[in-house]
Amino acid sequence: MASAVTNKWRGIAGKCLVFGLALLPLGFLVADIINANLGPDPGQVITEALGIAAFQLLLVTLAITPLKKVTGWSGWLRYRRMLGLFAFFYAALHLLAFLQLILGWMDLWATFTKRPYIIAGAAAFLAMVPLAITSTRRMMKRTGRWWKPLHRLIYPAAILAWVHFLWQARSDITEMVVYAVILAGLLVVRARWFGVSSLVPLKRT
Ligand code: HEM
Repeated sequence: MASAVTNKWRGIAGKCLVFGLALLPLGFLVADIINANLGPDPGQVITEALGIAAFQLLLVTLAITPLKKVTGWSGWLRYRRMLGLFAFFYAALHLLAFLQLILGWMDLWATFTKRPYIIAGAAAFLAMVPLAITSTRRMMKRTGRWWKPLHRLIYPAAILAWVHFLWQARSDITEMVVYAVILAGLLVVRARWFGVSSLVPLKRT
């Protein structure tokens, strides 16, 4: 009984810690905005910071299953939903910042279809929408056996987000190469452990 209570409190403390850590990028950004520490193009800096936070959290979410497998501790799974939702939260703020601070809300169709890197970003975002919508326990029950195949949309979302990241780069692509190695590593270990079909979205296995 005592150990069940301790475990429960440990679980809650762990969730609070992960919640706080996931809010750090937003905290740093707000501090920079308050201190007017964003340089000559704040809109660009804010949009980029939110985009990188979304992408990094997507990678951390993808790392949960490998972490569970390597450490043998299934407690990692408790944090997956929260991390995935934070990735979506930052992606939504990134999109809002782009529209509000860089481009404006006029002629949205032209905005989203003219530049290939924007098309890749929009596709990544659209792939994340059903994941966020179906992340609740109620939706998990309602989607039943389709939940898992649907949630494999996280793989194309991460690949498209990386393509979007690479495409918008102007000169130095070292950072993108590092992220490509991490993303490829996460996809390859999953394919080796669970088979390539475990990466295919919307297909019941
Ligand atoms: C409709 C959806 C999206 C739009 C319109 C959009 C737009 C943009 C824009 C305008 C930039 C900055 C380009 C520049 O520096 O000039 C950018 C960069 C970036 N975006 Fe997006 N994006 C979208 C979706 C996403 C998603 C879903 C992710 C990740 C999950 C993402 C991750 C990134 C990253 C990592 C960068 C680079 C940041 C950096 O240079 O440090 N974007 N995006």
